[in-house]
Amino acid sequence: MVGGHLLHGGDYNPEQWLDCPEILEEDIRLMKEAGVNCVTLGVFSWSVLEPEEGVYNFGWLEEIIDNLGHAGIQVILATPSGAMPHWMTQKYPEVMQMRQDGSRNLPGKRHNFCYTSPVMRKKTAAVDEALSRKFGRKENVILWHISNELGGNFSDGACHCEACQSAFREWLKEKYGTLDNLNRAWWGRFWSHEYTEWEQIHSPADRGETTVTALELDWRRFVTEQFCSFCEMEISAVKKHSDLPATTNYMDIFKNINYNRLARGLDIISWDNYPFWHREKDEVPTAVRAAFNHSMMRSMKKQPFLLMESAPSVINWRENNPVKRPGMHMLSSMQALAHGSDSVQYFQWRKGRGSYEKFHGAVLDHKNGSNTRVFREVSEVGRRLPGLEHLLDGTVNRPDAAVLFDWENWWAVEDITGPRLDLDYPGYVMDHYRAFWEQGIEADIVDMDADLSGYRLVSAPLNYMYKTGWAEKIRTFVRDGGIFVTTFFSGMADETDLCFTGSHPLEDVLGVVQEEIDAPSKDFENRFIYSGKEYPAVRMCEIVHVKEGTEVLSVYERDFYAGLPVVTRRSYGEGQVYYLAAESDLSFLRRFYENIFDSCGMKNVLGAKLPYGVTVTERTACLPDPADADTGTGDCRGAMFVMNFKNEPVFVECAGEWTDAENGEAFSGKIRLEAFGCKVLLSRKTK
Ligand code: GLA
Ligand code: ZN
Repeated sequence: MVGGHLLHGGDYNPEQWLDCPEILEEDIRLMKEAGVNCVTLGVFSWSVLEPEEGVYNFGWLEEIIDNLGHAGIQVILATPSGAMPHWMTQKYPEVMQMRQDGSRNLPGKRHNFCYTSPVMRKKTAAVDEALSRKFGRKENVILWHISNELGGNFSDGACHCEACQSAFREWLKEKYGTLDNLNRAWWGRFWSHEYTEWEQIHSPADRGETTVTALELDWRRFVTEQFCSFCEMEISAVKKHSDLPATTNYMDIFKNINYNRLARGLDIISWDNYPFWHREKDEVPTAVRAAFNHSMMRSMKKQPFLLMESAPSVINWRENNPVKRPGMHMLSSMQALAHGSDSVQYFQWRKGRGSYEKFHGAVLDHKNGSNTRVFREVSEVGRRLPGLEHLLDGTVNRPDAAVLFDWENWWAVEDITGPRLDLDYPGYVMDHYRAFWEQGIEADIVDMDADLSGYRLVSAPLNYMYKTGWAEKIRTFVRDGGIFVTTFFSGMADETDLCFTGSHPLEDVLGVVQEEIDAPSKDFENRFIYSGKEYPAVRMCEIVHVKEGTEVLSVYERDFYAGLPVVTRRSYGEGQVYYLAAESDLSFLRRFYENIFDSCGMKNVLGAKLPYGVTVTERTACLPDPADADTGTGDCRGAMFVMNFKNEPVFVECAGEWTDAENGEAFSGKIRLEAFGCKVLLSRKTK
């Protein structure tokens, strides 16, 4: 565990209150009252840390770090590059991003910097190194927090300035060697898009090139690489005089940066979670999205991650911003722990009086001090976490299943002009993931570079792009006994978006021959019967044939392709593959996955049929031995989280006997969960 504890606290921006010493004193007193043991300092503090170019003013920060230290509060120290001071943009206007239309941004906001700019890199490295020298070995500083939400601000988050254009060309030279190779990979002959000099290449832009999809893909890869190299530059600067680990805070699946790639340079993954709770009465879609993100963060290193920011109650940037209903704060905090977080951190500790985020919720409001519902609910989390620390230390979720979510596939499938222009890759993957979540089957969320060897089941919805080596990886996975699920419009193109010719790269494994793909209008929607029930086939209906040995589980009922397969299954080696030729609905996906889970004996850790709105997941210190599963023997320490996302009490019928990890209460047969309740049970294998 970073810092030796489950961390509780969040972004603390005391520079807003330096002229109010009584506020700074009250902060520490109330932090103790709320059970805060860790705060993040220095995010966006550049103008106070370096008020003039090259003049550092770290005294205020040192005093605050020391005062926190005396109160037993640890510090995550951020580098200030998330927002630039005005002296910088005034003196070096080239540090501001250029938009794709060629216009240079004006000063202001955050993240408005060119990550290629040599000046920006130099100034950032200098202040980072100075911070490292000053605080890198301070006792209560535990972690470096690089910048803030990289890439999150202007339109596409990318910079299109001349420095970036020439870096892009260099990157392409490195990748392709010759223009000939590049032209071939990008299918340049079409529409006379061949390049004869590297200087002719320009980033994608609405008033320029947007039709060469391989250019778009390579540009996105390059942008990710530039962010990674900026972040890695910052990491080496802060590590100059310090051995502390480093993280940077991710956002809810963010399209502009391939987070799996960025993860390689980080020691710890962290992210900022702002679900739209109470968007509707049914909290399940929101809970599923949060669980998906948490699980993805955990899967990147198969290690616990940190919840770096969350809202104690309200946020301020959605069209309407509901307050968290009583109980939701505890539940959403526990949900993060359940899926592998070792922290519950907030944005921010105290609401500022002015500017952009004065109405964004914080632990302390403008009024009423600690006498608020929000403060009490935060303090309740603060009291609960220490009791779970020992139990969760060294544990993580170790699921049998994985769902593929791959950034490059995302970019490719949504950039093409194909059967539909409204393809929503994350939304579609999340529909599949939801079927796992509802049945309490934990899944890792992995990309095509992942090692699949530990999984029994891998699902790859809308897996349009097959990266080099992916087909072979799946073939081996299935041959060795894995179960693989994939869908229509999979295996269409390679890494530079060139379509495969001849056959699908896994045609022999899937036993399915793709022929046409229909994106039917409403009046032409189709249907099929699966497991005795009728389901819709909508939006994407692939017309496929099967090879000998492939079992057809459902066929289309209507139109000229009536009788052709929709759902198929095939054995390959020791394993099995399922192919879904059409998009359907949630009720189908539930049924479909339930059948797969049953057929391979995958059960949730409670062995229970879960009521709607309830899910369960488990963190363990080691891989449980399946042989011990029913006997309750073994010594794999861990905890199970049973969560109720309904705002009313529910009963969960379950097999076996369970012990509440927090109060020792024993259950058998039935567990009652309060409205928005979460119980932590001892893992069956805890001795
Ligand atoms: C992000 C940022 C924070 C703050 C919050 C508001 O997560 O990192 O600085 O702006 O959003 O929700
Ligand atoms: Zn630039």
